[in-house]
Amino acid sequence: MTFNPLRERGIPLDRQLRNWRELNVTPIDPDHADPYTRCRIIAMNGIEVEAIMFSHQLARHCPDLEIKQQLAGVRYIEAQQQKAVNWLLPGLASVLETTIAYEQVAVDLTAWVARMEPDPYLKQAYQFGVLEDFDHLYRYANLYEMIEHRKAEKIVDDLTEVMPGRPTYLHHRHPTDNVREPYDRSGAQPISKLHALTIMAAEQQTMNFYMNVGPTYMEPIARQLYQEIGLIEEEHVTHYESLVDPGESWWEMLLNHEYNECYLYHSFMETESDPKVKAVWELHLNMELEHLRLAAELFKRHDGRDPEQVLAPELPAPVTFEPNKGYLRELIATQIDYTTLGTGYVQEAHERFERMQEALMGGEKAPSEQVITDNVHKSGEEYRLETEGPHPMGSLRVDRH
Ligand SMILES: [Fe+2]
Ligand SMILES: [Fe+2]
Ligand SMILES: [Fe+2]
Ligand SMILES: [Fe+2]
Repeated sequence: MTFNPLRERGIPLDRQLRNWRELNVTPIDPDHADPYTRCRIIAMNGIEVEAIMFSHQLARHCPDLEIKQQLAGVRYIEAQQQKAVNWLLPGLASVLETTIAYEQVAVDLTAWVARMEPDPYLKQAYQFGVLEDFDHLYRYANLYEMIEHRKAEKIVDDLTEVMPGRPTYLHHRHPTDNVREPYDRSGAQPISKLHALTIMAAEQQTMNFYMNVGPTYMEPIARQLYQEIGLIEEEHVTHYESLVDPGESWWEMLLNHEYNECYLYHSFMETESDPKVKAVWELHLNMELEHLRLAAELFKRHDGRDPEQVLAPELPAPVTFEPNKGYLRELIATQIDYTTLGTGYVQEAHERFERMQEALMGGEKAPSEQVITDNVHKSGEEYRLETEGPHPMGSLRVDRH
């Protein structure tokens, strides 16, 4: 079954506005929902936020009143979609529980994308990044056990393992070394462009989230850990956004954004287990088809090319949330000691890296190390969820007695 969003009819824009009753979605059940349903909600919220912010940036660079009015019209609908999607989350979760869910999204979405990415340089960028969010999950899970006296398996539910990845304190690289080479817009496969947009949007929302929620905790270790990991999410946004070819015209970027929204709503509609949530994905897909048609019109008029020249002829295989345990264990075993130098990767701590580390640590232990020490002190042992056996690195195993 092939699905070409350029050939499908959506809901006309003037019929997309929802009233309060329609926007008042029923949240998922906090105790019985599929954790991957929550992951799809979080991922899709990141995509909608990016759609809104991208449209604002485009409008700020656009002198044509009529185009700005059209952008405002579509953007208002994106804003309603963002509300409908994010309001599917139940209000019961603590900030730290939502944080753990965000890192689970980063782990399983990036691992999926790394597995599917055809371009070796881009694939390496995802493989590199995923080992870091994997470690963030472990640090936050320890903070969670320590200050909320609960275990992260309540949230990740055995689908994602929780154990050390590349140690968080080693993620603080010199900013120069966070910039990657972009794909080439004329040579890259369409799926590669979609992957880059998706992961960029996901990391950007995590960065924004930590910026705002970090100081809502009173415990000093929690405040410090959010500062530390918040700075790493800034590095991640720099890393992933630099993969996108900046030579794309604004109209081409708009087209890719709308196409990616179609792709992800279609993917989630195909893979969703909760029927009420599935209905939201389906409705939003039908809205996005019309956004895509409008973007295609702008692209034809102002870029002068045919959308079929730059987009995939049909949607690629659906983005799927599923366990990636074996894949992650293999990456840990082979790439845990990687860092970046310029736009490439190396396995030794080079001078610029060392200088950055020294300046940032100021002779002290990083909060991400302290949180483990503190939790061992408080709970008797550190928190891990190793469902597939001992840690793949002998040096990162713990003696349980
Ligand atoms: Fe949207
Ligand atoms: Fe992270
Ligand atoms: Fe990240
Ligand atoms: Fe859209």
